Amino acid sequence: MIDVEKCRITHYPAEVLGKEALPVEKIDDNIRRLVEKMTEIMLKNKGVGLAGPQVGVPLRIFIISLDSSRECARVYINPTVTPAGELDAIDEGCLSVPGVRTKIRRYKKCTVTATDLDGNEFSEEGEGLHARVLQHEYDHINGLTIVNRMGSTARIAHRKQLKKLKENHKKDAK
Ligand code: NI
Repeated sequence: MIDVEKCRITHYPAEVLGKEALPVEKIDDNIRRLVEKMTEIMLKNKGVGLAGPQVGVPLRIFIISLDSSRECARVYINPTVTPAGELDAIDEGCLSVPGVRTKIRRYKKCTVTATDLDGNEFSEEGEGLHARVLQHEYDHINGLTIVNRMGSTARIAHRKQLKKLKENHKKDAK
């Protein structure tokens, strides 16, 4: 049972962001409430995607809304994302890595297969921003953030902010 009221954005280097998330076993009221809470958090922070580990829930679930609107928000439960096409490097940020925007290499296209809140399986093809956000969120449920995807030059360029996030994390742990 997830205490949805306690869900907050987790910041790098929180442990939950570095672990592979577990499959959602049953889509019940608790999961529906979680999705509602995740949607609220994503919209409030003007994000275009949010994954379970980013609110402290180690489950394979994410939501995306390319224009950061409630109308376009879509849920992906136990998704599989298969990239396709060529690679592209575009600036990306992440609500769990505040203060960092950096070029990340991702595939231009992908296919996602997932389950929706009614328990129905669906598939969709993504391209451009859609493909990028799907790959970004899929990374989150596999324990990866943009910090893992950054090249060494970007890591050096952002070392101060990464250090600050690590220090904040230590303070919060106390
Ligand atoms: Ni992110």
